[in-house]
Amino acid sequence: MIEVKDISKHYIVKKKRAGKFSFFKEKEEIKALNKINFMLNGGETTCILGANGAGKSTLIKIMTGILTPDSGTILINGKTPFESRTQFLKQLGIVFGQRTQLWWELPVIDSFNIIKKMYDVDDQVFEKNIDILDQYFQIKKLLHRTVRSLSLGQRMLCDLASVFLHDPSVIFLDEPTIGLDISIKNKMYAFIRYLNDSTETSIILTTHDMSDIRALSDRVIIIDRGSILFDGKVEQISSVFKDIRMIIVELLDENTDQITTLLENYQLATHISKSGIMTIEVNTNNHNLNHLISELHSTLSNINDIKIELPDIECVLNKVYSGGLNV
Ligand SMILES: Nc1ncnc2c1ncn2[C@@H]1O[C@H](COP(=O)(O)OP(=O)(O)O)[C@@H](O)[C@H]1O
Ligand SMILES: [Mg+2]
Repeated sequence: MIEVKDISKHYIVKKKRAGKFSFFKEKEEIKALNKINFMLNGGETTCILGANGAGKSTLIKIMTGILTPDSGTILINGKTPFESRTQFLKQLGIVFGQRTQLWWELPVIDSFNIIKKMYDVDDQVFEKNIDILDQYFQIKKLLHRTVRSLSLGQRMLCDLASVFLHDPSVIFLDEPTIGLDISIKNKMYAFIRYLNDSTETSIILTTHDMSDIRALSDRVIIIDRGSILFDGKVEQISSVFKDIRMIIVELLDENTDQITTLLENYQLATHISKSGIMTIEVNTNNHNLNHLISELHSTLSNINDIKIELPDIECVLNKVYSGGLNV
C-alpha cells in the first residue's frame, strides 16, 4: 500500500543574467510538483503519464527516498522512504530508463551476482528468478556478455531483470520503454503483466508513451506541470486511443499547399513541425483511415513517407483539458 499526500517539490536554478558583467546570478524557482495526492493498493500496476518536464522523475525520486519533498508525506507499506533504513529500501526496486544500474565493463552475470550478495538473495530464489527471466527475456543468452556490448533493448531487459532478482515488493520504472523498439517493449509488457497477475509486486511506471498505457495499466495518473490532471481507470481515457490516430506525413519538399487543400476538404486540422513533418489528427469514427491514406497517396506528388501512430501525450492532454474525454 502506497500513500502519497500533498507532496510538493521545487528546484532552484541559477540563471545567468544577460550582459557583460554578469556577476549577479538570478535565481529561478521551478515548481516541479504541486500538492500531489494518490493512494495505490498493493499488487497493482499503475502508470504515471506525463509530457517531458511534467514531474514524473521527481515524483519517482521522492517515492524512492532519493529526494526529500518540500512538504507532504509518503508512506510505502507504512514507512517513509527518505527516512527509512537500508533494510526497508531493499524491498524496493528502481529502474531509470536513461541510466543503467549495471556495471558497464562486467558481464551481466557479475552484476547480478553482486546484487545477489548485496540483497542476500538465496541461491534457490536466484535460480528460480533467472529461470523466470529466461522465459520472458531469454536472459541466459545475455548473461555472459558485458553490459557495454548489449544493445539498448537488451540492456533495458537486463536492467529490469536486475531489480526483480531480490523479489522486491514495489518496483519503480522511470520511463523504461524510452527509445525501445516494439519487440523489446512487448517482452517488457509480458513480464510486467506476469508480475501483476502472478505475484504481489506493485509496479509504478512512468511514461509519455500511449502504447505503454494501452498495453499495461489498469490505473493511470496523468500529471501535467507538477499537478495531477487525471487519476482513474484506463478505460475512462481509452476512447482516445481507440478512436484517434495520428497520420504522420513526411514530404519530399516544403510545399504544403496540396496537402493543406486536401485536408481542408476533409475538415481535418494539421500541425506542421519545424522539420516539415505533418501530423494529422483523425477521429476514426468520422473518417475512414484507409480511404484517407489512399487519397493522400494518389493526390499528392511529394510524399516521402506516411505512418500511422497512436495519439501522442500532447493530444491526450489537449483532450483532457478541453473536456473531450468526459473525465
Ligand atoms: N535537478 C534539477 N534541478 C533543477 N530543475 C530540475 C531538476 N530536475 C528536474 N528539474 C525540473 O523540474 C521539472 C520536472 O522535471 P522531471 O521530474 O525530470 O520531469 P519528467 O521526468 O516528467 O520529465 C522540469 O521543469 C525540470 O526541468
Ligand atoms: Mg523523467
